[in-house]
Amino acid sequence: MNITYYGHSCFGVEVNGKHILFDPFITPNELAKVIDVNSVKADYILITHGHEDHIADAVNIASRTGAKVISSFEICQWLEKQGVKNTQGMNIGGKTKFDFGNVKCVVAIHSSAFPDGTYAGNPMGFVVESTVGNFYYAGDTALTYDMKLIGDYRNVDFAFLPIGDIFTMGVDNAIIAAEFIQCRNIIGMHYDTFEPIKIDKPLAVRKFDRSGNVLTLFEIGETKQFGK
Ligand code: NI
Ligand code: MN
Repeated sequence: MNITYYGHSCFGVEVNGKHILFDPFITPNELAKVIDVNSVKADYILITHGHEDHIADAVNIASRTGAKVISSFEICQWLEKQGVKNTQGMNIGGKTKFDFGNVKCVVAIHSSAFPDGTYAGNPMGFVVESTVGNFYYAGDTALTYDMKLIGDYRNVDFAFLPIGDIFTMGVDNAIIAAEFIQCRNIIGMHYDTFEPIKIDKPLAVRKFDRSGNVLTLFEIGETKQFGK
């Protein structure tokens, strides 16, 4: 699976020839000026919650690409009001089959409101299961024992975890999360974008290494291959 980083928590993952885009926040991100939002590919857009730093470019990318948005029922309704027609509303615990594989919505301990302050349903994470491997995209979340269910439920080949602290878990809790989900291969997200979540990246990588896990941090615009 080819994975491209668009900054903050926004990643594109190519699964069975389909481009899955997570939590699009590109044009307002000062660090992501190297990304041309109009060249970002998407067949599906998965959105974990309604905060601006996860949804800012959802309407423009969905409108340009016609990608199907997979998110909470409340977020899909909100996007439909803004002209996004192709959506699949879901909720935590639910699994749906798509042409690239399955998406299961899992618990995230966080909050979720739209940029205008209105209710956006519950925040969630996603487990993607496919013939070329399985992965977990945590969204914004605290460390939670519920992550043990993910490790019991599926072999996860790699996982996207927030590591910036303050608004989500930080590095030390993300290392425990890696144990809970029984996955050594972690891709870091939700760090450095804003002053309060700036981290010491070499230290984060060393801490993961010392715990017997591997933390991969992407440059913005970089593509790497994970799994098959
Ligand atoms: Ni958030
Ligand atoms: Mn966030």
